[in-house]
Amino acid sequence: MNRSVRRSLPLFLFVSVTAAPFVLAQAGTPPAGNPLALKAGPPNAARGAKLAAASCQGCHGPGGRSTQSGVPGLAGQVPSYLKLQLPAFRAKLRPSPVMQQVAGKLSDQDIVDLSAYYSAQKVGAAWPVTNAALRAKGEKLFNSGDAARNIIACAVCHGGNGRGLDAHGIASVTNLAPKYAGTVLYEFRDTPSFGGLTHPEAMRIALKPMTNADMNAVIAYISSMQK
Ligand code: HEC
Ligand code: HEC
Repeated sequence: MNRSVRRSLPLFLFVSVTAAPFVLAQAGTPPAGNPLALKAGPPNAARGAKLAAASCQGCHGPGGRSTQSGVPGLAGQVPSYLKLQLPAFRAKLRPSPVMQQVAGKLSDQDIVDLSAYYSAQKVGAAWPVTNAALRAKGEKLFNSGDAARNIIACAVCHGGNGRGLDAHGIASVTNLAPKYAGTVLYEFRDTPSFGGLTHPEAMRIALKPMTNADMNAVIAYISSMQK
């Protein structure tokens, strides 16, 4: 499965939701056929901690603070984002052979508990950046954009501290692992049939006017945002 499948997911969801409005109207009943809907009890972060230690920390690091550049940290990630990405891997709607296999073994309750645990952890340390000028350029783009080139400030959505917005499913990007950040940002910009999981066009619109130099600058900045 290629990345365009992940990016075209919302269209599929939109169609299934509009086709069954009466299902949505029943409180507590997830819309039929929606693979991202979770049915679980209240979140249990202590249980999530045990699951994380047993199944996730080998790759995502203790407490979800990643030390591998290609693996995103999960510490301090917004819960709504985690609760969308894990079912998306499980339903094979978001690619990644590794994560599809891992998520395939998780119950709805596991996902809710893991999300509660990771979102409450302190965000991982800043990654080292050697090029201070590149980082400074990225900081400016992140906070102010570049109106003359139609680049919107990333901070408008992700917040000045990069910590995202749980109510709107906007991911935290603070101290994001740089190699992973590079992969995901180039994909957002360059995948033709783009559609993010929550806001299909948001990231493509944000990145479309950006050059590779701009992209590399924001990656240098977000990966080392919070010292
Ligand atoms: C064998 C290594 C490995 C294990 C074990 C693993 N992950 Fe992952 N995980 C990855 C990699 C690599 C990615 C990046 C996938 C991509 O390219 O999109 C990832 C991505 C994710 C993402 C998406 C994060 C984002 O910023 O979009 C979540 C959420 C996640 N993993 C949760 C978990 C949880 C919860 C567990 C344990 C139940 C777990 N992972 C176990 C390697 C692993
Ligand atoms: C209009 C709102 C908006 C703007 C502006 C925006 N983003 Fe995003 N961003 C989002 C949303 C929504 C997501 C989650 C997408 C998804 O569900 O796949 C996201 C996801 C991301 C991710 C993936 C996080 C992960 O863990 O996989 C990165 C990295 C990111 N944005 C960086 C940026 C940068 C850098 C900028 C500025 C150049 C920017 N964003 C501008 C809304 C926005």
